[in-house]
Amino acid sequence: MLTSVILCGGSGTRLWPLSREAFPKQFLSLTQAGSLLAETIARIGKLEADRLLVVSNEEHRFLVAATLQNAGLKASNGGNAIILEPSARNTAPAIALAAFEALESDPEAILLVLPADHVITGTETFVAAVATAVEAAKTGAMVTFGIVPDSPHTGYGYIRSARAEGRAADDTSPMPVTEFVEKPDQATAERYVASGEYLWNSGMFVFQAKRFLEELKTFRPKIHEACQAAFAGKTRDLDFLRVDEARFNACPDDSIDYAVMEQTDSAVVVPLDAGWSDVGSWSALYEMQGKDAHGNVARGDVITEDVSGCYLHSEGRLIAAIGLQDHVVVETDDVVLVAAMDRVQDVKKLVAQVRAKA
Ligand code: GDD
Ligand code: MG
Repeated sequence: MLTSVILCGGSGTRLWPLSREAFPKQFLSLTQAGSLLAETIARIGKLEADRLLVVSNEEHRFLVAATLQNAGLKASNGGNAIILEPSARNTAPAIALAAFEALESDPEAILLVLPADHVITGTETFVAAVATAVEAAKTGAMVTFGIVPDSPHTGYGYIRSARAEGRAADDTSPMPVTEFVEKPDQATAERYVASGEYLWNSGMFVFQAKRFLEELKTFRPKIHEACQAAFAGKTRDLDFLRVDEARFNACPDDSIDYAVMEQTDSAVVVPLDAGWSDVGSWSALYEMQGKDAHGNVARGDVITEDVSGCYLHSEGRLIAAIGLQDHVVVETDDVVLVAAMDRVQDVKKLVAQVRAKA
């Protein structure tokens, strides 16, 4: 049985000021009709998945529940559930809770782990890649999906694989992972991209729930123990599954990438060329959208004169810009962000300043 697990606990600060703690990126409609979470759920609807588990935090539970309801999914029907974390402990504990829940009803459960906040335009290619990954997972593999890198981005995991001699460029069968390096430094990332031997980790995974927990127990026994104890103390309230607060709060913080994928000997990678983006910054959002004749992307009420290469986004008030190149302007009720396009990674520094002031 295939269980989809959507990780929905992130705060997405790099898309501030649109993405806020109370209303983070996954709940925003950025390029498509629905929110990123709604689009993720719609994509899962194309798969042969039997069950959906969303792992989120208490604060966002009604946003998640409303999204499921709008998708026609009553969370508690058919074993769907919204698992609520009392605190953020990163992705390894979040996936562990989902694995324990999946195993309660199916010892052979296979998990498809998906971030709530990515864009994938090639749904059919994605569906085919998941089918390939599920077959590999049945044999015990820990499957990731690899994206051909187009820049030495340091915010991604890098995967080196054993590419068979003479393998066709469009071959999408799984390859054994020989090295998984989470978020290398700039020089290392540059070397990896120049070598042509590495793929980006897309942050989506397929494995048996029991295999994930075995590997977690081997490499991060404290996380395994804390999550097992927290799950044992669970309560169910309609669609929501809450775990024991004190036990979960005692869990170490770690991502699946460092905790498991860098360590395991069972990793394989399925190449994926499906218009994937993690929409990790304003420039990523700019890149993935259609531009006007001057290379601008304008959302909302915007007028321009001699403006090129800009992302201009108004939530209400008119943005009027003259003589601007390669900038991002985002207008919201209480904040106007103005940033050079090549500095948008630093938005998180502004968010830190805002938090320090509050
Ligand atoms: N439930 C829950 N709880 N979800 C979480 C938590 C948590 O504590 N922390 C993060 N998430 C969710 C985020 O909302 C996001 O959807 C997903 O898990 C991944 O977390 P990120 O924080 O966005 O990870 P990242 O972008 O730094 O790195 C990961 O993704 C990259 C691709 O986008 C890694 O897997 C990298 O290796 C990968 O390249
Ligand atoms: Mg991310």
